[in-house]
Amino acid sequence: MKLDRSIASHASIGRKAAHILIAARRVKVDGIIVTNSHHEADRFMRIEIDDAVVQEPQRALYLMLHKPVGVLSATVDDQHPTVIDLIDDPDKHTLHIAGRLDRSTSGLLFLTNDGRWSKSLMDPGNKVSKVYLVETREPILHEAIEAFARGFHFPTEDITTLPAELEILSDHKARLTLHEGRYHQVKRMFHRVNNRVICLHRQSIGQIELPPGLAPGQWRPLTDREVKSVKITPG
Ligand code: URA
Repeated sequence: MKLDRSIASHASIGRKAAHILIAARRVKVDGIIVTNSHHEADRFMRIEIDDAVVQEPQRALYLMLHKPVGVLSATVDDQHPTVIDLIDDPDKHTLHIAGRLDRSTSGLLFLTNDGRWSKSLMDPGNKVSKVYLVETREPILHEAIEAFARGFHFPTEDITTLPAELEILSDHKARLTLHEGRYHQVKRMFHRVNNRVICLHRQSIGQIELPPGLAPGQWRPLTDREVKSVKITPG
């Protein structure tokens, strides 16, 4: 949101009046006078008018979870345990999931309350890579490498999947790198080469890897460097 809109809403005034307050150097963002009405303002910033705080900053949360099999990537569900049940934080009710995993899939999952961050992470234009370890029912044929690199047309969404890198690790195991996140994408891709995924685990997203010491069900805050490794899309 632009600063003039935020000030207008906090002070219950029009945008023109907000613009005048900003231009008159009466508005501070995180302790610094801001004179540009188009300055980006979000709920994680302290905003003051004439030294009176009109918005206390909300705590920004960026967490990684090692999602275990059997837990739902949802914030509430009356039948199954959800990933939120595994988080112990007073502000966990503010979290949303950035990039769901199926109930039967394990591995790296992000939870945040920063919509701009999760949107940038998921933005198809940013082509953030996701690496999966896959175990299949049938042996993985060498021809699959080229088929995954060419892409598959999914008629339901009328899209062709972006080139994906398939690295065969053994007869029934592979590492797959995708640059997008479509519904049940890995399972559907293996289905197209007449195979079936029996075990799926997400190892990394972008530059962030699931640390070996983080056991299934455990979580930790992302480091500053991990948070900043996601390039924020403007707008
Ligand atoms: N692709 C799938 O099929 N399932 C997941 O959970 C993630 C990617």
